[in-house]
Amino acid sequence: MALLHKIGQSDSESVYDAYAQKPSEGTIAKYKMPDDSHDPEVITDLILDELLLDGNAKQNLSTFCQTYADPYIRKIMDACIDKNMIDKDEYPQTAEIERRCVQILADLWNSPESKTTIGCSTIGSSEAAMLGGLAMKWRWREKRQKEGKPTDKPNLITGPVQVCWEKFARYFDVELREIPMEHDRLLMTPEEVIKRIDENTIGVVPTFGVTFTLQYEPVKEISDALDDYQKRTGLDIPIHVDGASGGFIAPFIQQDIVWDFRLPRVKSINASGHKFGLSPLGVGWVVWREESDLPKDLIFNVNYLGGEMPTFALNFSRPGGQIIAQYYNFLRNGRKGYERIHKACQEHGMFIAGEIEKMGIFDILYDGSTGIPGAAWMLKKGTDLGFNIFDLSDRMRVRGWQIASYTLPVNCQDMAIQRVLIRHGFSHDMAQLLIDDLQRSIEYLRKNPMTHSLDEKTAGGYHH
Ligand SMILES: Cc1ncc(COP(=O)(O)O)c(C=O)c1O
Repeated sequence: MALLHKIGQSDSESVYDAYAQKPSEGTIAKYKMPDDSHDPEVITDLILDELLLDGNAKQNLSTFCQTYADPYIRKIMDACIDKNMIDKDEYPQTAEIERRCVQILADLWNSPESKTTIGCSTIGSSEAAMLGGLAMKWRWREKRQKEGKPTDKPNLITGPVQVCWEKFARYFDVELREIPMEHDRLLMTPEEVIKRIDENTIGVVPTFGVTFTLQYEPVKEISDALDDYQKRTGLDIPIHVDGASGGFIAPFIQQDIVWDFRLPRVKSINASGHKFGLSPLGVGWVVWREESDLPKDLIFNVNYLGGEMPTFALNFSRPGGQIIAQYYNFLRNGRKGYERIHKACQEHGMFIAGEIEKMGIFDILYDGSTGIPGAAWMLKKGTDLGFNIFDLSDRMRVRGWQIASYTLPVNCQDMAIQRVLIRHGFSHDMAQLLIDDLQRSIEYLRKNPMTHSLDEKTAGGYHH
């Protein structure tokens, strides 16, 4: 049978190839805008090709942030690409959905006034932490002014914190009293907090899921100690919990830990929707225990359905899709779904910690069971295997794995640790593949010992 051939295609169309025409043939513009326009498909291909050199997000075990999105989240993000969440009047339903998310979180975190309390979305936990910090500073200053006392030396007490709190302290002129780690104490303790308090303390920030070790700081014990301190001194010190990760984990899989608004001293909580909240990058949350915990003069009003809506933010324009995706996650997963997802991650983290312990050359610092899903370990002290933890991370990169390796902060800088985070989208099979690759990498490095080991700087990072 004769084949039908379509004719009439011009020569130039039939020989079209994205890689055989300008600008693919030469170098693309990098630091100056080109004079002329180009074919969007060709440009997209070129940019996407370049991005292949980025790490594979699923194998990025350094990040706390979500790297998995189901097709429905992608659909929502696509539909919402043009929604600016600050335009409350133009996108009133986006504003309404943001409001519902705040209420859902206030309820999840046991606010006694979850229906009336106040909170907002942010671009992430960093912005949310700044807002929580500002509210503490404002409340402290108001009180001091009323008492006719000086307000020029506010301080904030934290354990080993994420850099956002260092930023808050520097940008908003607050002295950071960060409790340094010790070899036998990697977290904040009530005793260490009490030692550092004075009348200028605007608040205490326990981290509920410490970035370095994934463990939870003991919020209840600190709250109890502050109750006792108030009885003795009259000073009433509020707590803001940095629940960047734990705020979206403990309510589902560690319900016995009392860390949230059940403690009256906890006045505000921040968490990252884009971490264990399971939403795409670009959403965090901060919620106050009761409306009165957020000073009124920090609030700006924007137009909303012919009326006014209170806002508190460092940014103005911000994408709305992440907020809608957060609401989707709440409805889609429900409490049971979040529990199933985080439990699976917790089990994979514990499996990895167990397998690593069996290798016999590591000390487990965190076994994945009581904090954020994941694991942390370090080479046993005094073992000389011909490589260090940074060499091992570097070797693992050959198979695409990105594993954070870093030294702990002051007083524990001699401790170089490796840490993996296990997030939604990671399976038991992947955990086994990771372990197999670790074993292979260790064997390789033992056979080929390093003549010049890498250090934290030369290893090139993953130390969030
Ligand atoms: C404890 C803690 N606080 C704050 C942050 C900052 O969060 P974000 O990246 O959402 O701004 C992080 C990030 O990892 C964190 O672990």
